[in-house]
Amino acid sequence: MIKILKKLKDKPYLKFYKYYKEAINVDQSHVESVAISSYCSSSKTVNSRFVNLKYIDSNRWTFFTNYNSPKAIEFEKHKQISALFYWNKINLQIRIKADIEKSDEMFSDNHFKSRSTEKNALAISSKQSEEISSYDLVKKNYNNSLNKGNLDKRPEYWGGYDFIPYSFEFWTGEKNRLNKRELFILHDNLWRESFLQP
Ligand SMILES: Cc1cc2nc3c(=O)[nH]c(=O)nc-3n(C[C@H](O)[C@H](O)[C@H](O)COP(=O)(O)O)c2cc1C
Repeated sequence: MIKILKKLKDKPYLKFYKYYKEAINVDQSHVESVAISSYCSSSKTVNSRFVNLKYIDSNRWTFFTNYNSPKAIEFEKHKQISALFYWNKINLQIRIKADIEKSDEMFSDNHFKSRSTEKNALAISSKQSEEISSYDLVKKNYNNSLNKGNLDKRPEYWGGYDFIPYSFEFWTGEKNRLNKRELFILHDNLWRESFLQP
């Protein structure tokens, strides 16, 4: 589930919230899972992966990860990302373009404190996306971290990223491929609304 921290005001955010409620009401699984695509400026390649969106605080949409991971390195060099949801139970795709930056440190500290000790042990023990010789070693590192304790202190290499959307497209699948595509683009602090052909 995504925590909505403030009452949403902007039109695309309200639309997102309306669809989010609809998806929850029909028991959509992984409703918080979003594919984040980033650009690696050194290899000139594009990379996608799912993360779980945890908070929406008006225009700041937050997930958590390892700050040394490939995605984090890509975000630091190229701050534009895309975010993609698909909720199959309501046949809805949401495409977002956004700028991304690290979350406030205290916000990350508080979120880390709110998590289970098991999740935190893993976050502390894992050098995310680095190669390792075996899965047994992953488990050994995790158990070492679990036994060491001090599991509510966030390590500096783990925390939140906020993405700040400037474009939304809501695509709903309709009968006879008469699909509806609504576009919202932010211009001078105003959301310009239009439709796209299917
Ligand atoms: C549904 C789903 C949710 C995930 N949520 C997160 C997440 O919130 N944070 C995270 O770091 N990785 C998450 N992962 C793992 C990432 O997809 C990815 O494997 C990992 O972050 C390493 O990505 P990178 O090498 O591009 O940095 C999730 C994977 C799936 C399938």
